[in-house]
Amino acid sequence: MVKILENINLKPHNTFGLDAFCDYFVEINSIDDFLELLKTEVYKKNQKLIIGGGSNILFTQNFSGLVVKNNLKGITVVTEDDDKIIVKAAAGESWHEFVLWCIERNYCGLENLSLIPGCVGASPMQNIGAYGVEIKDVFFELEALNINTGEKRVFKKEDCEFGYRESVFKTKYKNHYLITSVSFILSKKITLNTSYGAINSELEAMKISTPTVKDVSNAVIAIRQSKLPNPKETGNAGSFFKNPEISKIKHSELKNIFQDLVSYSLPNGNFKLAAGWLIEQCGLKGYEYNGAAVHSKQALVLINKNNCGGKDVLDLSDYVMQKVFDKFGVTLEREVNII
Ligand code: FAD
Ligand code: EPU
Repeated sequence: MVKILENINLKPHNTFGLDAFCDYFVEINSIDDFLELLKTEVYKKNQKLIIGGGSNILFTQNFSGLVVKNNLKGITVVTEDDDKIIVKAAAGESWHEFVLWCIERNYCGLENLSLIPGCVGASPMQNIGAYGVEIKDVFFELEALNINTGEKRVFKKEDCEFGYRESVFKTKYKNHYLITSVSFILSKKITLNTSYGAINSELEAMKISTPTVKDVSNAVIAIRQSKLPNPKETGNAGSFFKNPEISKIKHSELKNIFQDLVSYSLPNGNFKLAAGWLIEQCGLKGYEYNGAAVHSKQALVLINKNNCGGKDVLDLSDYVMQKVFDKFGVTLEREVNII
């Protein structure tokens, strides 16, 4: 039986730790819960917001409508052979706990994505990525329910149109589906990806020459802990902006002026810029505005330093975008979902 609560503060449900109230709040623990919810007047009459861990959302105002917290649990093996295994995780499973579950069993593929906050169900939304791996690299399929009809649909990899921090769930199917589970195809043979420079240096510092899956995970965790703020201590939602893509011509222009520009070439001939570097070069590292701030160890992360409001974070992000545009002629795009 689903229990719809009224006038709930979402502070415990967003990693920025911001006060924002919603008219209605409900947790679903099973697909039947959701199908029951679908029939209620509150559901039919209100706009809906689905949340997992609230680690990629900025509430700039109260939410007038119903917040549905996805709490579906369970991890199952779908199929396996000597080399591969397909593992299915329910959307409400903690992402990091799920990664650890795979690592404990020596299933390779998710270790570079250790310690990303949030739930499994949100992972396809922006094709989460870190340290040289994105979920699209190991994604098998997902199951979702149409939020109006409750009809089930299976999305294969090609249906999701994954890109850098992108998928159909952020574009043409925004607010169309409740993702209920995601399946990943993992390797039982040890095939590690340590190409991302910092992982190798961290493994060297740990004096490990033949790393295990767990070692790579530990290295990633150590790197992340050294620069990203822990949301339990300092409110944030990870990178606030995406790393921008620019043309080869624009890249040459910038490189002529800024010799130490941090950039990576892309297969399509364009270049990706490190937005953190751009922001730092504007002198904004540590910059504060009304209790919101640019993180002093990683300029791409905006933090709730001192009891700010969501609007303060948004205003700060506008300021950062303007400064970066004025100096480099590059427009930053927000990664975080703004409500
Ligand atoms: P939420 O914030 O609750 O929701 C995010 C979006 O997904 C919202 O639009 C919501 O409506 C939608 N949504 C959530 N669940 C569902 C569902 N079941 N069905 C349909 N829609 C749904 N991201 C990276 O990619 N790489 C990183 O390295 C990374 N590092 C981070 C570090 C820190 C410290 C923090 C705070 C965040 C970081 N993030 C990173 C961002 C964030 O953790 C991920 O985007 C994560 O997948 C969000 O999960 P969530 O459950 O918290 O989603
Ligand atoms: N840099 C600076 N100053 C800064 C921050 C970064 O100069 O303040 C430069 C450094 O030269 C560094 C480079 O930028 O070498 C890249 O920095 P980092 O390795 O920290 O990664 P990032 O590009 O800032 C991206 C993702 C992260 C992901 C890491 C690791 C985006 C928007 N962000 O950050 O994802 O964890 O790479 O792969 O792509 C997230 O999406 O929330 C997130 C944290």
